[in-house]
Amino acid sequence: MATDQRLRREIDDLGRIFGDTVRRFAGDGAFELVESVRRLARRFCDGDLAAADELDALLRGLTADQLRVLTRSFGTFLELANLAEDRQRVRSLRDRERDEHPNPRKESILDAVRKLKELGVPAEQVAELVERVHVELVFTAHPTEAKRKSIRGKLRVLRQILLRLDTHTLTQREEESQRDLVRREIEKLWQTDIIRPTRPTVIEEVDRGLSFMPVIWDTAPQIVGELREAVAEVYPDVAVATSGVLRFGSWMGGDRDGHPYVTPEITEQTLGYLRKAALERHWKTCDALITSVSISVRQAPPLDALFEPIAAACAKWPELPDLLEPIPPLEAPRRWLRIVGWRIEQTLADAPEGLGPSPVYRSAEELAADVRRVRDALVESGDLEVAETEIDPWLDQIATFGLHMARLDVRQHSELYAGVMVEVWRAIGLVKPDEAIDEDRRCELLVETLPIAANLDPVGLSDTAQETLELFRVLRRAARRHGMACLGGHVVSMTKHASDLLTILWLWKWSERVDGGAPEDPCLCLPAIPLFETISDLESATEILGKALATPAYRQHVRDCGDRQTVMIGYSDSTKDGGYLAAAWALQSGQIAVHDLAEKHGVDVTFFHGRGGSLGRGGGPAARSILSLPPETFDGSLRLTEQGEVLAERYDDPAIAHRHLEQVIWAVLMATTTPPPKPTSGYREQMQRMAEASLAAYRELVTHPAFVRFFREATPIGEIENLPIGSRPAKRKKGDAIEDLRAIPWVFAWTQCRCLLPAWYGLGAGLEVLLAEKGGQETLRQMYEQWPFFRATISNAELALAKSNRPVFDRYAKNSAADAGMAEIAELLDAEYERARRTLLAVTGEQELLDTVPWLKESIKVRNRYVDPLNLIQLEVMRRIRETADPPEELRHLSQLSIKCVAAGMRTTG
Ligand code: PGA
Repeated sequence: MATDQRLRREIDDLGRIFGDTVRRFAGDGAFELVESVRRLARRFCDGDLAAADELDALLRGLTADQLRVLTRSFGTFLELANLAEDRQRVRSLRDRERDEHPNPRKESILDAVRKLKELGVPAEQVAELVERVHVELVFTAHPTEAKRKSIRGKLRVLRQILLRLDTHTLTQREEESQRDLVRREIEKLWQTDIIRPTRPTVIEEVDRGLSFMPVIWDTAPQIVGELREAVAEVYPDVAVATSGVLRFGSWMGGDRDGHPYVTPEITEQTLGYLRKAALERHWKTCDALITSVSISVRQAPPLDALFEPIAAACAKWPELPDLLEPIPPLEAPRRWLRIVGWRIEQTLADAPEGLGPSPVYRSAEELAADVRRVRDALVESGDLEVAETEIDPWLDQIATFGLHMARLDVRQHSELYAGVMVEVWRAIGLVKPDEAIDEDRRCELLVETLPIAANLDPVGLSDTAQETLELFRVLRRAARRHGMACLGGHVVSMTKHASDLLTILWLWKWSERVDGGAPEDPCLCLPAIPLFETISDLESATEILGKALATPAYRQHVRDCGDRQTVMIGYSDSTKDGGYLAAAWALQSGQIAVHDLAEKHGVDVTFFHGRGGSLGRGGGPAARSILSLPPETFDGSLRLTEQGEVLAERYDDPAIAHRHLEQVIWAVLMATTTPPPKPTSGYREQMQRMAEASLAAYRELVTHPAFVRFFREATPIGEIENLPIGSRPAKRKKGDAIEDLRAIPWVFAWTQCRCLLPAWYGLGAGLEVLLAEKGGQETLRQMYEQWPFFRATISNAELALAKSNRPVFDRYAKNSAADAGMAEIAELLDAEYERARRTLLAVTGEQELLDTVPWLKESIKVRNRYVDPLNLIQLEVMRRIRETADPPEELRHLSQLSIKCVAAGMRTTG
């Protein structure tokens, strides 16, 4: 929580209203209890450890009901504080813009283009540069959004009321009535259940993803327009094509990895939903234009250019003359737009093909061509401004969202498909039932049978195999009907072999048999996207991809995809596998190696960064992460995941969505044109050595015989697994092994107990390698100064260390240090935390963590006063649960409640 006066005032105001709400609905006693806990927590935060013991004693004596009121009070207050902080962020942005006027806002698109000019980038290169920028933000349904839609909705309404209250022209009466509304919303917030009654279904998740689309629909064309305007202002002679700059993708309804509920039917339904959402939005935009663009040929004669296409359309589709009847004949733009609107309606209704020409838009390009006609006519008639401000945004929306809104990716685990292929070959008698198939044989079989895959009709397959074939049937039909634009690609989790990629080609080829084949099939190419997500897979990525690219059929596939290969790299699983520093390096060096390999094959690479929102899953500021990509591998094209809670954080508020997107494009322009100095190979060697030491320290921890026990005892992982926040199960397989646990609950659990080890464990071991050597500290400081990757790695870890809270975590550790093994784990954690902190400070040169970002340090400190008591409540609930063989439902509920409220306080789940 920042210290700005306005923010303080708003938090105080909201806090007061909230306090009254607690009094009113829970009673004076409850309010007093909250206040006592608050006072003790403050003392604890200020370093008085005895206060925590007093607080513990107090909590022990409370009933479950009292604990529930306390938890809700702190959790809801934190939500209100988050809301106030978000508003403050928007206010500061606006202040900064005012202060810096007429200079552009820092990290805005104009700022980037002006920088290009300063750097001497010539005009002709700018057009080429903008053409290379392709950013695709891919929304995943990853279960990290703890807040219910009902809670988010209330907070959104509150934000809107507070915004109205900022208006200086309100009368007293209006202001009072808005204040009443604030109170009422807070009261409803208090009375709304924080926990979802059931897990969301996959389709509910798809809906949730779509619920951000109205904001994105309006924001995306602003960003693209700003890019065009910035270039026009700084390079007046350059015309840039911005049609591919920004895209959106989605995994909701397509990500099947470890998710039994994403069936082919769901995927099909999702594709339909996305298309419908896009078409409805286009229709609305068109309808608004029909109202707005009332320009008549009488006043603007060149608009008569539209008469001819209007007449041609009326001749083609007999329904049109009647439809146009109410629109005066001279209002040509309206008449033409009405025709466009009608064709969108026909597309939406999926009007069946008749004898005559179909009015259905087959592609976004067709729609864009029609919209461009009205633009051209307006420009011709001198209405350039109307064209630029009203028609261009729609053209940008068409380019960004097409007729599909977001390109749906499909994802499945490599092992599952490997099993399916064996079944298929057995079913067609190509391999014997007991024959072992190694990787070479697998590749051989795939290549041999690929040309005839579409002729094969394997029978007697398991449900899994049949479902896989059904999925490809669905994808093939969608591609034929709506074009490849609706599909992103097929991601293969845990890609370990070239055959994992060839398998996608094979299954896609097989699907050509669906419905007897179609003439467009040869032009349809489903990109196979490997996902490398363990340290060893990242290290073997070149070998795997190299083998695939050396296979003529696969090379041809990549050629069909425009000689571009998308390669996904997973930040969370690699960090879970090898620890923070080793993963960061494996991801960075993996990109360099893959890029070099692809270059030899004449292939461009788009890296797809599978990052989570939290620091332990590759999170951190998006712009910082883009700027720290290896410059030699980045050509302006990238895909990034936007996950779970991050969606609401970034796309709920239009001002924040705008800022986020502009910073992403700013960073891409900067990273593409001003490559930071390449690290010397010396830096890379040092990094490699540090990564190895860090990996060893991390593996020592996670393979310690007591580690799994400690993890399950000290953290609330058990409850997290049962939390109904996402539609998919928490584990791929049954069992307690860390390898089987998904990265999200792993990071979630460590965040809850305020340890956050995924984002720092092993860092100290790594840094110490150099610090122990002569001149090592100097080298590290140079690396920190000169190498954006290293700086970002250190800065994110610094934030994670600062957000970790040892006094709180110690209490979790003590709670479970039941035997010598577990006590050893607690000691390892303690020692590595201290080492990471000490060595990091030696690199940054600070006295204390975050010394150089004092507002953030202060914000964490103030926030801790409200989060710490929630942790102590969580510990008390965990204790009560463990004391009972069959804990009552109210304790389970309380435990989940504490998890949600701590997540609100940390502003992240995991
Ligand atoms: P996954 O995602 O488990 O779906 O691979 C991991 C993550 O995003 O943290």
